[in-house]
Amino acid sequence: TRQMAVPTAPMGWASWNSFASKIDYSVIKAQVDAFVAAGLPAAGYKYINIDEGWWQGTRDSAGNITVDTSEWPGGMSAIADYIHSKGLKAGIYTDAGANGCGYYYPTGRPAAANTGSEGHYDQDMLQFSQWGFDFVKVDWCGGDAEGLDAATAYKALSASVTKATASTGRALTLSICNWGYQNPWNWAPGLAPMYRTSTDIIYYGNSPSTTNMLSNFDQGLHPAAQHTGYYNDPDMLMVGMTGLTAAQNRTHMALWAISGAPLLAGNDLTTLTTETTGILTNPEVIAVDQDARGLQGVKVAEDTTGLQVYGKVLSGLGNRAVTLLNRTSAAQNITVRWSDLGLTTASATVRDLWSRANIGSYGTSYTASVPAGGSVFLKISGGTEAASTNYTATSTGKYT
Ligand code: DGJ
Repeated sequence: TRQMAVPTAPMGWASWNSFASKIDYSVIKAQVDAFVAAGLPAAGYKYINIDEGWWQGTRDSAGNITVDTSEWPGGMSAIADYIHSKGLKAGIYTDAGANGCGYYYPTGRPAAANTGSEGHYDQDMLQFSQWGFDFVKVDWCGGDAEGLDAATAYKALSASVTKATASTGRALTLSICNWGYQNPWNWAPGLAPMYRTSTDIIYYGNSPSTTNMLSNFDQGLHPAAQHTGYYNDPDMLMVGMTGLTAAQNRTHMALWAISGAPLLAGNDLTTLTTETTGILTNPEVIAVDQDARGLQGVKVAEDTTGLQVYGKVLSGLGNRAVTLLNRTSAAQNITVRWSDLGLTTASATVRDLWSRANIGSYGTSYTASVPAGGSVFLKISGGTEAASTNYTATSTGKYT
């Protein structure tokens, strides 16, 4: 049976990739202003997520987190209020264990000890919600160091998030971030709408790397888990960061969109170029990511090693998004066959999603020349398929 529409993957901006722990009220405010000025809200982006580095000071005698008001005048509620004043949603960060990552791997500002949320799940989730936050990313450095069971910890966190939401009336969204450890695709769907499937796409201080981009994409493919409003999270975007070409940025977006992944931009929005804005906001690319059916794309063919075809079932009958990905070091032709997409049409329309132009109609397949290390991103429409097709994906690939 056809799946009902589900909540789509979160879209927004997050501070970690470009700023790491070097954040304060004015840094975040400048990003909010640039986010709005660039038109990201109209393209569907709505979260401004403060990652690690907002670090709280020691807990007070009641166990509540304290905040350095020299960096966050008015406390964390002031920045949440500013974000809300622009019609956006606000995100914050903590750890499932006793300490966040900065405690173990100092990356600038040292975090006070025991300011992770272990032992304070209800208290902290309520605090974040009372401050006005709509989203909380819960990291795993403390949990990992302490050898916690991730499914147990995040189940408790999910319950605390539900309680906080009920208490304040403000929906708090949980983002599970245990890097694919302990196979979250087996237990996280149902607990949180997104769960990280790999380690960091950029470690603090490192430059963007297309090797990480491809390996995070690969590690994020768990299509059987992603079909009921729960999304595999291959990590925040590097699009627009120094070191990636426009073609690499487009491949990054095309891979995240065919995955139906959360789209959390990670670049410094105050230095956004027109080209990057165009890549982040292309409405047809976003539409693939945010397709109401909420499925993940799957690899449907790799006739020659490194020449890959990914297909994603879209809403409506006979529609597919297709990424042709050339992982070799020379330009190559790659063919997508309608039969591999589950379509039985005599003719389908092929559209280039980046240029937003139809290429033509093709009977059984389409072949494109794909640059070395690059991709082509297409929509196939007008295909024929049975209305009763069941699009539950299998862990090994094709839809059944
Ligand atoms: C590890 C996470 O995977 C990153 O996304 C980021 O939140 C850092 N920790 C912060 O220290």
